[in-house]
Amino acid sequence: MATFTFSLCFILFLFVLVHPSSSSSSFSPYLYPSTFSMNYDKMLTSFKVFIYPTTQRIIFFSPSASNFYESLINSAFITQEPEEADLFFVVFSPEISSRSQARLVRELRTKYPYWNRTLGADHFFISPEGIDFSSDRNALELKKNSVQISVFPTVSGKFIPHKDISLSPVSKSSLVLSHAPVNMDRSCLGYLKWDGKTEAELVEELRLDSEFVVESEPLDQLGRVKSSKFCLFFYEAESTLDLTEAMAAGCVPVVIVDRPVQDFPLMDVLRWSEMALLIGNRRGGQGLKAVLSGVPEDRYQRMRGLCVAAAHHMVWNAEPQAYDAFHMVMYQLWMRRHTIRYTRREEF
Ligand SMILES: *[C@@H]1O[C@H](CO)[C@@H](O)[C@H](O)[C@H]1NC(C)=O
Repeated sequence: MATFTFSLCFILFLFVLVHPSSSSSSFSPYLYPSTFSMNYDKMLTSFKVFIYPTTQRIIFFSPSASNFYESLINSAFITQEPEEADLFFVVFSPEISSRSQARLVRELRTKYPYWNRTLGADHFFISPEGIDFSSDRNALELKKNSVQISVFPTVSGKFIPHKDISLSPVSKSSLVLSHAPVNMDRSCLGYLKWDGKTEAELVEELRLDSEFVVESEPLDQLGRVKSSKFCLFFYEAESTLDLTEAMAAGCVPVVIVDRPVQDFPLMDVLRWSEMALLIGNRRGGQGLKAVLSGVPEDRYQRMRGLCVAAAHHMVWNAEPQAYDAFHMVMYQLWMRRHTIRYTRREEF
């Protein structure tokens, strides 16, 4: 009996060791795992957006901006009653001039009472490229106070972290929709789909190393991604970026960039620091290899697990689905709905 009790205790002890109470947070892709689903559910049932009427038919050429816009205007988040709205959507063409932008805001603020209440802080707009600072008061409030929704990677200097939101790139991969099982065999250390011009010297070094695969026109990109431990991206070379596919396939993203990245999609929701590596290009190919080879196996497995767990949040669907890229942008907007009004003293 004593032995039995002892074994039972021992098994319980092991269980506690393997499942410490904090395990859910260290294995969760979310920055705030304990409140994420509660806030999400509240967003689904309560969030209301008012769109200022526009006579113009707006077309966004960027796929992610277009997906977001079309999904939003056809969604149940839209209300015809501005008084019950949490946020206000200012719609303008991506090709609008900065003068027309300023005029649009001036019109809204004189015609409706909503802009002046927060000086635009409970307003948002889509601008795939982002907008500039302006000397005009109206355009400046739009820039400084309203939430800008842009395409990832954003244009340098045109994105304000924690206020603005970036859209996940639209994935062309069949994997992200099929939820196919992820291959465990990772024979290749790093895979790079190269645009043929970025950082040619570094890439040449990687090409000569048998642990890396570099391709410009892959025949089987998905196969490559699935059999590589790390997927390399040049932050600037957006054309090659299929971040979502890499993550869904469990290929941990390595972003080669020489400055901090503050515009990842879902930056304030996901634990990017646990899911991706940022490496400066000055290290060269061998430096890069040293970093990747030096990642301890348990850390690598955790990063990989978090990537796979987070990937569905970056998938765009023709018919939006729960927790997909569209709903996650709505979630980020919802979390910004009580934005504090900026005073004149605040500078960016
Ligand atoms: C909002 O404030 C501006 C001046 O700051 C004023 O011209 C405008 O009429 C106000 N809008 C409303 C609806 O009162």
